[in-house]
Formats: sequence, structure tokens, C-alpha cells
Amino acid sequence: MKPRIFSGMQPTGELHIGNYLGALRNWAKIQYDYDPIFCIVDQHAITAPHDPQLLPERCEQVAALYLAAGLDPDHSAVFVQSQVSEHVELAWIFTCTVPFGWLSRMTQFKAKTLQAGGNQDSIGTGLFLYPVLMAADILLYQARFVPVGDDQSQHMELTRNIAQRFNNHYGDTFVVPEAKMPVVGARIMGLDDPTKKMSKSAASPTHSISLLDPPGRVRKVLGRAVTDSQAGVNWEAPGNGVANLLTIFQAFSEWTDERMEAHFAGMRYGDLKKQVAEMVSSKLEPIQLRYAELMDCRDYLRGVLRSSAERVKPVAEETVRAAKQRTGLYFL
Ligand code: TRP
Repeated sequence: MKPRIFSGMQPTGELHIGNYLGALRNWAKIQYDYDPIFCIVDQHAITAPHDPQLLPERCEQVAALYLAAGLDPDHSAVFVQSQVSEHVELAWIFTCTVPFGWLSRMTQFKAKTLQAGGNQDSIGTGLFLYPVLMAADILLYQARFVPVGDDQSQHMELTRNIAQRFNNHYGDTFVVPEAKMPVVGARIMGLDDPTKKMSKSAASPTHSISLLDPPGRVRKVLGRAVTDSQAGVNWEAPGNGVANLLTIFQAFSEWTDERMEAHFAGMRYGDLKKQVAEMVSSKLEPIQLRYAELMDCRDYLRGVLRSSAERVKPVAEETVRAAKQRTGLYFL
């Protein structure tokens, strides 16, 4: 039996090249070495204000992007979280296991509370419990590894702590999972601010490149990308913005360092930006074509989501049965 991996993304905002290079592409590459489960976490998406009319469509868009980026539905389970009710059932049991203080100290919760002006009346309790649901996602399937970016390391630590705490209190029930950060970590930064990781929630229109952006927009956004005041690419000491552009090019092209240096050292920023734009668009094109095909075959797409949910459901049921028994919940 290959070790199980579990990962997921929220169906909010548009997936961008940072999501692709840092996660999706890696998932597609490693899927055959594991028993993989990939989830679209819509119950996490409702922890923030959202449009109920749009959310189901967003789930299908993300599913289509997962497949277009190379996830093979004959091998990888690709399903929507709310289709398997055991996620929230286990999350409740964990809610009663995890100390309040652990959750209060989560930096993401603190940051989002601050963003809301520190006003506790304007944020949902779901945001506080977000990491508990994430722990349930992972532990429900007894996943051994979780391929995620380093921004998820605190959530992963909490997940491990919850598993260990439950196991200590009630007896061995859960595999304690490990985060699996990509080895060649393509950490893509914001194009408008290369000191911040590219994010789905940034407001500026020149912050990121969506996987669905047409070449014209890719060129435009990259044309406005922040660089620095050096004359051209200083290979030894590029500024953050230029380093980010080079990282994007290299991640897509998979060129060696030597080839990168020979090609880009000293190049003027205008030319650099044009070449990055061409490389990005040429790699996005096949993904976009496949995405459009999949969105036109909704029956197929829904079939994948349905059969994957059916495939993972028995694992979820078995884990919840064990967790209920261990906690003393009534069970016939
Ligand atoms: N918190 C993750 C993110 O923001 C999304 C997520 C929810 C997740 N549940 C998960 C990731 C389980 C990995 C495993 O990206």
C-alpha cells in the first residue's frame, strides 16, 4: 500500500500561478507515488463572507483546474468537502478536544481578526475553528503526508498536536501526519510587492496572474511588476522583484541555473518581463484549453466529483466510527 496523501484548496478567488507552481503542479507530479486524496474545501470557504450563488460554480471551476493541471481522476480522488459529512462530524469531536488557548494563538486567526479591525463581532466563529476543520480533513483519511506550502506549517503543527492529544486521551486512533513541503520550493511572491507571498485575497489587480489569464493580461501584469533601480539583471544580487520574475520563469521552463544565468545575466528589465510573459502564457495555454473542455463537460466533471466522494466515504465512515466509540458517543 502506498502512503496516503491529502491536500486541498479553498474555492475562493482565482487560482494563480503561485498556487500552481507551489502546490498543484507538485501534486500532479507526485500523485502516482501515493494514495492521493485532493479536496475542494468549500466548508472552509464559508468561514469568510462569500456569495452563496457563486460558491458551487467555484467548486467546479477548481475541480476543472485540478484536472487541467494534471491530477488524474482515475488515480487521485478529487472531491468537494461538503459532499462527505464526516468532515464536520469529526471536527466537532476535535473542537471538544482542543484547548481554547491553542486556537487563540493561531497567527492566521489573529491576522484576520486584525484585518477586521480587531472587532470580534464582525468575524465568524468558523474562522476561529478553521484549523480544527482542517485537522479533521486530514486525520479523517489517516493521511501520512500533506503536501502544502510553508504558510500552512502552523496549521500542520496544530493538526499533529490534535492527533497526538486525541491518541493520548482516548487511545491510538489517528495517524500523526507530516507536512510535505515541495523540495524545489517555488515560492512565488506578489508582483506588486515581492516581499509578500502571492495570495488569492490581495486587492491589487497587478498582484497576481490567474491560471486563466489570457496572454494580453499576463503581459500587462508582468509589465507592471515591481523591479528595482539597477540597470539590468544583476545575476549575483537581483532585487526581490527581479528574483521573483526569474523564479517564475525558471519554475515554468525548468531550465538549469547555468542556462538561466547565461540567458538572463545583464538583460534589461523590459526584455526580461516580455520573456517571462511569453514563457508563462505558453505553459498556461494547454491548462486553459483543457479547463475550457472540462467546463463544457459538466456531466463528466460532476461524475468525477461524485465517484471520488463515494470512493473516500468508507474511509471517512470508519474513522468517525472509531472516533465516536473512543470518545464514548452513543453507538449502535
Ligand atoms: N488551509 C488550507 C489553505 O488555506 C486549505 C486546507 C483546508 C487544507 N483543509 C486542508 C490544506 C487540508 C491541506 C489539507 O491553503
